[in-house]
Amino acid sequence: MSKLVKGFSKLSKADKINWLAENFFLDRASGIKTLEQYVNKDHKLQQLHDEFIENTISNFYVPYAIAPNFVINGKSYAIPMAIEESSVVAAASLTAKFWSDRGGFKADVISTRKVGQVHFIYKGSAEALETYFDNVKDDLIKATDHITENMRKRGGGIVGIELRDKRDSLDDYYQLHVTFETGDSMGANFINSCLEAIASSFEKEGIQIVMSILSNYVPECLVSAEVSCKVKDFFPENPRLYAEKFVQAVDIAKVEPYRAVTHNKGIMNGIDAVVLATGNDFRAVAAGAHAYACRDGKYRSLTNARIEKNNFIFSIELPLSLGTVGGLTKLHPLAKLSLEILQNPTAQELMQIVAVAGLAQNFAALRALTTTGIQQGHMKMHLLNILNQLEANVHEKEVITKAFNGKTVSHSAVAEYLHSLRTEQ
Ligand code: MEV
Repeated sequence: MSKLVKGFSKLSKADKINWLAENFFLDRASGIKTLEQYVNKDHKLQQLHDEFIENTISNFYVPYAIAPNFVINGKSYAIPMAIEESSVVAAASLTAKFWSDRGGFKADVISTRKVGQVHFIYKGSAEALETYFDNVKDDLIKATDHITENMRKRGGGIVGIELRDKRDSLDDYYQLHVTFETGDSMGANFINSCLEAIASSFEKEGIQIVMSILSNYVPECLVSAEVSCKVKDFFPENPRLYAEKFVQAVDIAKVEPYRAVTHNKGIMNGIDAVVLATGNDFRAVAAGAHAYACRDGKYRSLTNARIEKNNFIFSIELPLSLGTVGGLTKLHPLAKLSLEILQNPTAQELMQIVAVAGLAQNFAALRALTTTGIQQGHMKMHLLNILNQLEANVHEKEVITKAFNGKTVSHSAVAEYLHSLRTEQ
């Protein structure tokens, strides 16, 4: 039987679910029950979520948590995080406390420029193209006036348009490379609308516009964050040894891509969780961050660590294109609340908070890896996940958590223990 369908988007929600159940569910009743369990009983709220995307049949929850006790540039924050992975929020909270006792995080926005490009093919003379571009440059900006009016009032808009000759990488390929300031909005729609207006004003016979789209690579929308302390305050036992091992761990992630990817993945645990909780686009942020990590041609750590005199210094620098207005930021009730919890930051403040969340996550991971190992912390939450999978009750959870304290946790060992506990009873 074919499992292809025509006109699926036009079906009612109930018919969509029916079609799905008929074609894919192993147990119709149980599949439908699972979908229904995640539908919000508040119809208005459900409708809001239904309309965020297409073909919605339910919601997919991700836990929403708080990592308190962050001090950033002298101001305290409780950071909301949306993430499914155990230990991330615990690690962020512990790190926040550790650094709030040592002066907190310092963060700085280096630049806020965003990029969009009109990609086109031109087979004529490069000089003629350059002359044409010089002649129409002002008109290209004018063509966006109706779109940029409000943004200009808020101090943003188009910062520059350049003609770039890219024929060394692809035959007849050129682009208009456009830079923007977008204030407190991430600016994706704004940028794309401007680019399309620029492209249609620029197009003429001989110029074949291929596409107009913002870039999620924003190396000029940069933020940095840093922590430092006396080496003696780094770790209770043998602080110099552990501070040195920490620096070595970062150095390894600077030269070894296999390690760097995992290292940066840990950073993104913190970054994506805050980006998602604030209704921002975590895929855009992740793509841009990873591209920045290999800006010199080799994929490297996004963080740096060093010991200078008797000070341990740990920092991060990465591009972050974020908004605190527009998009889902005010539309998704939890995203709106996240921003309220963060004391309604500007986009630049949010960049700092998010960079700090990444730095904190990397700190927690490296400190665990270079001291006790990562599994000790992970295992507690891993055990809980296994117990939930096995549908252990509160009493069973308590007994088994005690029994596995300090022991290696595996699914089979926990299942076996639970089985013996149940047969005993
Ligand atoms: C796990 O999600 C993240 C870590 O692997 C990061 C790292 O190894 O640095 C613990």
